[in-house]
Amino acid sequence: MVHVPAPPPASAFSALDLFRVDGQTAIVTGGANGIGRIACLALAEAGAHVAVTDIDREAAEQTAAELRSAGRDASAHKLDVNVEREIVEVFEAVRTTTGRIDILVNNVGRSPRMATTEIKLAAWEEVLRLNQTSMFLCCREAAHAMLEQKRGAIVNISSIMGVTGGGAAPNLPYHATKGAVVNMTRSLACEWASHGIRVNAIGPTYVKTDLTRPLLEQPERVAYIESRTPLGRFAEVSEMAGGILYLASPAASMVTGHLLMIDGGWTAI
Ligand SMILES: NC(=O)c1ccc[n+]([C@@H]2O[C@H](COP(=O)([O-])OP(=O)(O)OC[C@H]3O[C@@H](n4cnc5c(N)ncnc54)[C@H](O)[C@@H]3O)[C@@H](O)[C@H]2O)c1
Repeated sequence: MVHVPAPPPASAFSALDLFRVDGQTAIVTGGANGIGRIACLALAEAGAHVAVTDIDREAAEQTAAELRSAGRDASAHKLDVNVEREIVEVFEAVRTTTGRIDILVNNVGRSPRMATTEIKLAAWEEVLRLNQTSMFLCCREAAHAMLEQKRGAIVNISSIMGVTGGGAAPNLPYHATKGAVVNMTRSLACEWASHGIRVNAIGPTYVKTDLTRPLLEQPERVAYIESRTPLGRFAEVSEMAGGILYLASPAASMVTGHLLMIDGGWTAI
């Protein structure tokens, strides 16, 4: 007869405990501001040592110091994800100091919004390098540790633009690279599943951060975005925390290759 385990007794089960990542080491790229910063706050509160990495050294140090003064465990590292050598060195330094890399949040990404006919090859390649190639490099470096540990969780930040082609302005390189992030996520999820490594992504809608500040200053574009969004507004950055923590934590232990839309319904239409 097939054995079906008995359900846990209510007194011994805590769903909230499944979101704890105590004793784990997390690396967040672009962790000093915006969505990366909220990922650092969430993971540190859930018990991880968080390596706050950013191209802006001072801002990374500020975020890590803020976390430590809140009683969390964090370190700061200057890391430009466009530079392979820096990725290799920072990931190795974090692993040497903490003994492990359990969680990686690949957060850095950006693109100039412009008509395709105006895009120079150099600008196109710059976006591919920042949004896609850097993610490959960070996943590769984190995997050295995760494959040895036989455990890891990677959360890639895609976008509603990774699965749709519209938006408030033409933005081909962003759509192309954020779409690539979705399928890189699926591909790595399949490659590494048998090694205990889960790879997932989130797809945020427009979030109020420095990245969208120029958009927020254009009332007609804000009105378009709000009217196009079933929930009728931009997201607050804090609304990204739950999804990132969920995918990084044991609460999502059966979830891999998934794109979690946090989009106010943008892709439901
Ligand atoms: N804000 C949105 O509306 C939105 C929507 C969907 C997806 N996203 C994605 O979320 C991610 C974060 O966006 P955000 O809005 O928080 O951005 P942000 O501009 O607020 O913050 C980006 C952070 O990355 C750092 N950074 C920039 N270039 C870097 C580099 N080369 N190496 C390392 N760090 C670098 C910056 O210093 C900054 O701290 C991006 O991938 C973006 O595409 C954002």
